[in-house]
Amino acid sequence: MEKIGIFYGTTTGHTQEIAETIASKLENCELIDVASASKEDIAKYTNLILAASTYGDGDLQSDWEDFAGNLSEDDFSGKIVAIVGLGDQDGYSDSFCDSIGILAELAKKATIIGKTKNENYDFQVSKGLVGDEFLGLAIDEDNQSDLTESRLNAWITDIKTKFK
Ligand SMILES: Cc1cc2nc3c(=O)[nH]c(=O)nc-3n(C[C@H](O)[C@H](O)[C@H](O)COP(=O)(O)O)c2cc1C
Repeated sequence: MEKIGIFYGTTTGHTQEIAETIASKLENCELIDVASASKEDIAKYTNLILAASTYGDGDLQSDWEDFAGNLSEDDFSGKIVAIVGLGDQDGYSDSFCDSIGILAELAKKATIIGKTKNENYDFQVSKGLVGDEFLGLAIDEDNQSDLTESRLNAWITDIKTKFK
């Protein structure tokens, strides 16, 4: 498998922890904090994991929002992209893990892998959801941290067969 670039943005550290856990479970990963990343960093990888929490009422985490402003859809053309979103389904039930949907829209020219079923969550609305499927993996460290490890393990088993 070619190198995987894990691009993460974090405000209170949850997404960084998840990104580091993914890197420890998958071989050949490089961790990149989007707070100090550039467009050229994306160009270095065919295999990408994009990891972002949601803030405001359905906005990308602020470093990710700044970084995304420098990117265009064409930057993802020909890439294989897996998305992980962090959110709080209890506090923000109408915008749970919207980051997944925002990143999927940005990366729509890529092949998006790692979609997951909407199972064992309890929320109203998410931009990350299409039908009964998230366009990535939704992690809720605020309310369901006990489910994080099994969710990550199942997701990693799936995505590692799909990267180049
Ligand atoms: C002011 C504020 C707004 C938030 N807005 C949302 C939201 O709209 N949707 C959501 O799913 N989570 C929301 N969250 C929850 C965070 O995304 C969640 O705590 C996440 O784990 C933080 O990850 P980070 O530490 O990597 O930034 C919000 C949290 C705060 C403090």
